[in-house]
Amino acid sequence: MSKLAIEAENISKSFEEIVALDQISLSVDRGSVFGLLGPNGAGKTTTVRILNGLVKPSSAGNINILGFDLYNETQSIRQRVGVLSDCNLYERLTAIENLLLFGKLYGLSNNESFKRAKELLERFGLQDRSGDKVEAYSKGMKQKLSIARALMGDPELVYLDEPTAGLDPEASYELLQYIKELSSDSSKTFFIASHRLEEIESICDAVAILAEGKIRAYGSPQELARQVFTDCWVSVKLAPDNSGFAPGNSGNSIDTSLLVKQLSEFDQVQDIKQSVDGIRIKVKGRDSIPELVRSLARLDINIYGIAEDTPSLQDAYLAIIKDI
Ligand SMILES: Nc1ncnc2c1ncn2[C@@H]1O[C@H](COP(=O)(O)OP(=O)(O)OP(=O)(O)O)[C@@H](O)[C@H]1O
Ligand SMILES: [Mg+2]
Repeated sequence: MSKLAIEAENISKSFEEIVALDQISLSVDRGSVFGLLGPNGAGKTTTVRILNGLVKPSSAGNINILGFDLYNETQSIRQRVGVLSDCNLYERLTAIENLLLFGKLYGLSNNESFKRAKELLERFGLQDRSGDKVEAYSKGMKQKLSIARALMGDPELVYLDEPTAGLDPEASYELLQYIKELSSDSSKTFFIASHRLEEIESICDAVAILAEGKIRAYGSPQELARQVFTDCWVSVKLAPDNSGFAPGNSGNSIDTSLLVKQLSEFDQVQDIKQSVDGIRIKVKGRDSIPELVRSLARLDINIYGIAEDTPSLQDAYLAIIKDI
């Protein structure tokens, strides 16, 4: 069995003169949570639709989904995949009827289908409204039901396009926890298209940044941040009583020039800046950090904490997008 849930090469898609995707290639590990990030119009939804077989690419190399060829083994794929995209509920049917209908499409027996629909409605807090028509649902309730629908067939691979759109913070948090749980306990693979960077950072094993139809960066959120920011900064939290460095009664204010002088002996230090509760020191690379810590320990200052500054996915994303 292929280790990859998705393996796609050189996908291009144009809508008349608009180039939505320009030769993108993707690989997603089974059992992982993958995030496709990008600004509005980047091509995320188009990618999801192509990988789903809903839209034909203008040109593409091999596209393998769960080890099956997207165009020649469509039926095998359909049974194993769930999708959340917009407009996929029947408004005139009740919530439970919607789920039962999809259970049937996935080939579940009536009993199985009913059991699963009930579980999912409970999971998303919709059990009390399961007999209401979808047209009477709020936006967030429809979103929850659409996600439940995507999970009805117990799929191996789930595509979620903007899954937390319209969800309140608590519901978003619960959904992310549920995705984590499903990917680790039952080895489901999730492919999530989103621009909610903190959410993606909190659950994704790997991310790709798509902008103007091209993949601009790929890796784990941490790797990505490190690819973008080669500088390495270390934050040193200082006690307020560093009298040798704090002129007068200036509280936390540190006379950094004295520190700079002392630290300048250590050639791995490249820059020093004052921060709210101490200083930030730029070093040549991560390998210099242990020596820096030893150097700081030799100085006569009271340190509360030392930590490497790890740039967030948001920092990396903004830096990548800005350069396009
Ligand atoms: N059916 C279509 N007809 C014409 N152009 C389209 C069509 N679908 C998408 N496009 C164009 O392709 C580009 C990518 O659109 P897409 O919906 O994939 O972006 P997205 O990354 O999902 O954006 P968003 O974050 O706003 O959802 C856009 O320029 C869009 O206008
Ligand atoms: Mg979209």
